[in-house]
Amino acid sequence: MQKVQIKKTDLLVSSLCMGGCPLGGYGWGDTVRQDLIDAVRTALDNGVNFFDTADTYGLGESERTLAEALGSDSSKAVITTKFGVRIENGKTFYDNSREYIFQAVEGSLKRLKRDCIDLYQVHYRDGKTPLSDVAESLERLKEQGKIRYYGLSNIHKEDEEELKQFTVNPFVSFQDEYSLACRKNESDMFTFRDSYEMTPFTWGSLGQGILSGKYDKNCKFDSNDRRSREIYVNFHGEKLLKNLEIVEVLKEIAIETGKSVSSVAIRWILDYLQDSVVIVGAKSPKQVLQNAEALSFSLTNEQIERLNKISKE
Ligand SMILES: NC(=O)c1ccc[n+]([C@@H]2O[C@H](COP(=O)([O-])OP(=O)(O)OC[C@H]3O[C@@H](n4cnc5c(N)ncnc54)[C@H](OP(=O)(O)O)[C@@H]3O)[C@@H](O)[C@H]2O)c1
Repeated sequence: MQKVQIKKTDLLVSSLCMGGCPLGGYGWGDTVRQDLIDAVRTALDNGVNFFDTADTYGLGESERTLAEALGSDSSKAVITTKFGVRIENGKTFYDNSREYIFQAVEGSLKRLKRDCIDLYQVHYRDGKTPLSDVAESLERLKEQGKIRYYGLSNIHKEDEEELKQFTVNPFVSFQDEYSLACRKNESDMFTFRDSYEMTPFTWGSLGQGILSGKYDKNCKFDSNDRRSREIYVNFHGEKLLKNLEIVEVLKEIAIETGKSVSSVAIRWILDYLQDSVVIVGAKSPKQVLQNAEALSFSLTNEQIERLNKISKE
């Protein structure tokens, strides 16, 4: 089972992290709560010890479901959650203020049934609180023993100037969308990994499911599934057709390697963006097991190049 040590920490985690968005039971079509709980158990029982969630996923439901599924095994898991997105009276806005961070952490600790969060991430920057102020608030939480480490999410080139101002960058990780279906953040991923000593986490690693190989050009989603909206470009128009070309190559390589299509898509990230953590949302034990296959093989250079060629944007 492939593991990675998150930079500047003592956190040794599986290179596959179970994404907690579906655990919120919202926005991913119909989900079966027991399947979600069984998926978490299957992950833990099969060496996947890293779980990503956020206070906004299902308005706290994801954190609650994760805590219920882990039960007394919670200490065997490394949990990362996020703050910074507020949803109030049907409106969504970003808030990285100290007042809000101190309030948000209490909610997450309660729902996760934990005294301490292993890694606390800034979900989105709010466009006004300086990064040094955010870090200062998070340092206070560390001193209070409420969090162990902190990281960033959805950062881009424009955040670099603020990162440069730290003598030692206190953020240990960052996460951005990255997959064979979405390579627009690629240069940022390498820059933040190599120049700012942060472990990269990828989200949308299966392109919200399109890279699993189970969808075709006629795929349709219910209105309670976010992928029905055109903003989820991977399932619409030209982008869908392009993704299906990538899936054809994934299927070829799945046959060559004897591995699941999903695991080949995940493996490409691990082989190409080395030392990363690949976050993948899963709704059932079967999906978790297929995805975990990625941790026990490597692609050849030729296979990586074939995937690079078909997926270059
Ligand atoms: N920082 C951020 O702003 C941010 C944003 C988005 C996500 N995330 C994190 O990243 C995680 C993953 O991203 P994501 O959930 O958006 O997309 P994803 O991991 O690319 O896709 C997840 C979906 O793919 C399908 N799937 C997974 N494994 C499969 C398998 N083996 N076979 C077939 N289908 C499979 C499932 O949906 P179906 O079965 O319904 O197809 C699953 O819900 C999230 O859960 C969350 O923790 C973070």
